[in-house]
Amino acid sequence: MDLFRLKSLLFLLFFIGRCRGQDILPEGPLDAVKTKDSGDYSINVISADGDTKTAEIKLRVLEPVSDVVIKSDLTEAIEHNSTVVLTCSAKGSLLTFTWTNGTTPIVADGKRLTLKNEQMSSTLTIAGVLRSDLVGPICCTAANKLEKEKSAPFNLTVYYGPDEVIVNPPNPPQYIKSGSNFNLTCSAPSSPPATYTWYHNKEPMEAAGEVLTLKIIQEHGFGKNVDEYTCRANNAKTKRTIPSPGVSFGVMEPITGAKMTGPVATLIAGNSTANLSCQVMTGTVKTRSWLKDGKPLSANSRLVFADDLSSIMINPLQKEDNGVYQCQLINPVTSAEASYKMVVNYGPEPATVTGESEVELDTKVTLTCSAASVPPANFTWKFNGTMTAVKTSQYIIDKAVYSNSGTYTCEAHNAVTGKTSKPVTHTLAVKEIEDGLSGGPLLESCQASLALALAIGLIMYCRLTVEYLLFGTFDVWD
Ligand SMILES: *[C@@H]1O[C@H](CO)[C@@H](O)[C@H](O)[C@H]1NC(C)=O
Ligand SMILES: *[C@@H]1O[C@H](CO)[C@@H](O)[C@H](O)[C@H]1NC(C)=O
Ligand SMILES: *[C@@H]1O[C@H](CO)[C@@H](O)[C@H](O)[C@H]1NC(C)=O
Ligand SMILES: *[C@@H]1O[C@H](CO)[C@@H](O)[C@H](O)[C@H]1NC(C)=O
Ligand SMILES: *[C@@H]1O[C@H](CO)[C@@H](O)[C@H](O)[C@H]1NC(C)=O
Ligand SMILES: *[C@@H]1O[C@H](CO)[C@@H](O)[C@H](O)[C@H]1NC(C)=O
Ligand SMILES: *[C@@H]1O[C@H](CO)[C@@H](O)[C@H](O)[C@H]1NC(C)=O
Ligand SMILES: *[C@@H]1O[C@H](CO)[C@@H](O)[C@H](O)[C@H]1NC(C)=O
Repeated sequence: MDLFRLKSLLFLLFFIGRCRGQDILPEGPLDAVKTKDSGDYSINVISADGDTKTAEIKLRVLEPVSDVVIKSDLTEAIEHNSTVVLTCSAKGSLLTFTWTNGTTPIVADGKRLTLKNEQMSSTLTIAGVLRSDLVGPICCTAANKLEKEKSAPFNLTVYYGPDEVIVNPPNPPQYIKSGSNFNLTCSAPSSPPATYTWYHNKEPMEAAGEVLTLKIIQEHGFGKNVDEYTCRANNAKTKRTIPSPGVSFGVMEPITGAKMTGPVATLIAGNSTANLSCQVMTGTVKTRSWLKDGKPLSANSRLVFADDLSSIMINPLQKEDNGVYQCQLINPVTSAEASYKMVVNYGPEPATVTGESEVELDTKVTLTCSAASVPPANFTWKFNGTMTAVKTSQYIIDKAVYSNSGTYTCEAHNAVTGKTSKPVTHTLAVKEIEDGLSGGPLLESCQASLALALAIGLIMYCRLTVEYLLFGTFDVWD
């Protein structure tokens, strides 16, 4: 029944009504009803012919709904441990209460959640409260037939944790490089945030905080072995302490200052010995390997490795030992390399001469003498047994002349080894031009020959002609 109809009815009652069996004095309309106006009203209508008709109405004047508040018996709760009792109270008459969790109504499940409604309040009891229970948000609505009012959202902090405690990295390498920027970090879901303490092989370390730096581990003198580290997370409110799984590692010095030392003296093939050794300034080397010119080096009759592979000895050195030697040093946290260039002096080996053997006059001749040698050999050249001024590997004749024909002898010499190669010879022949018209100086001599031939021919011709004229025969050749 709406207010307008109610007022109309009460207006009618004002004229002719009776209330609760008493006449209502026609004082004025009931325009501001009070709770005390609640009651059963009836009306008698008497018509002119004396008929009486009666109508009745129940009037309930309700107090407005107001002051809907949720109160908790606890100011803070511990997950799983606390039983939270929420009481929703309100002002107003004939109230009914409903609870909502977000948008869904809360229904008692008889176990964890129980609801109890009373006239002016409702109680929601949550046993073993969970962190998720009260985030809804939880609201309470008080209502009567005319109106309803909702409470402000209810907050209550539910402390929880620490839950699963983890250490990062969970699987560190077996060895960590000494002095590196390495940390163990402990974490666990917890409210309020957990505090952390650290353990070394199950013994407490004097280290707190979620980060345990390698520096602190080393300052404690730990790390020499592969040890186990754990952390424990503690929550001051829930009073729970949970350990993390252990992580294990050791700390290792990196290899620094790798250096290869070898002979400093001049080395001669067949007569010198070389010891190459590979040393480091810091760090323990776990693996050593040797390379020569990028290929693995192996032992042979002249090359012996030290038992710990820290050095090699080559005795005696030969020319094939020339090259770059490398040692590779490895430990779990570093790899390093050092190298040494070995120069073994040798030679000269038997020399050879290459170049032209037969040339025509005026052509260029290049004779090359070569002999394997370290350092490169110096050369001497002899011509027909006589020493020349040429000291280079090449003997060059710009324009050959007849007198260049002969025997050229080359000798290679290495002052470092003190060796001289066996002399090696090469014969050069400078020849006449075969095609007379090829030009140049050759042409001149050809022309001379031609002129001579013509002159002889002419004389012969003249003579033959005369003889013919004189004797009529050709049989005369003088
Ligand atoms: C409220 O809802 C959340 C999920 O929506 C649920 O986890 C929680 O238990 C509920 N709280 C209550 C008191 O029913
Ligand atoms: C409830 O939580 C809201 C938002 O987190 C905050 O603004 C409000 O002050 C809290 N109320 C109470 C009673 O703690
Ligand atoms: C380790 O922790 C220290 C101090 O907390 C920090 O300065 C450093 O950056 C961290 N290192 C790494 C790799 O996270
Ligand atoms: C929570 O409950 C457990 C077992 O019921 C009890 O041992 C513990 O002390 C309680 N924690 C707190 C903070 O009351
Ligand atoms: C070879 O070694 C011996 C002895 O060390 C030395 O007398 C000789 O001069 C060396 N020979 C050469 C070519 O260096
Ligand atoms: C090389 O090392 C061996 C063994 O250490 C040593 O007997 C030898 O004299 C060394 N040789 C040289 C040339 O240093
Ligand atoms: C060099 O020797 C060759 C052959 O023995 C000879 O024909 C030539 O005339 C000689 N040359 C000189 C310039 O002595
Ligand atoms: C070549 O001669 C130069 C100059 O005389 C000398 O310094 C050098 O050692 C010699 N080289 C060889 C391999 O004999």
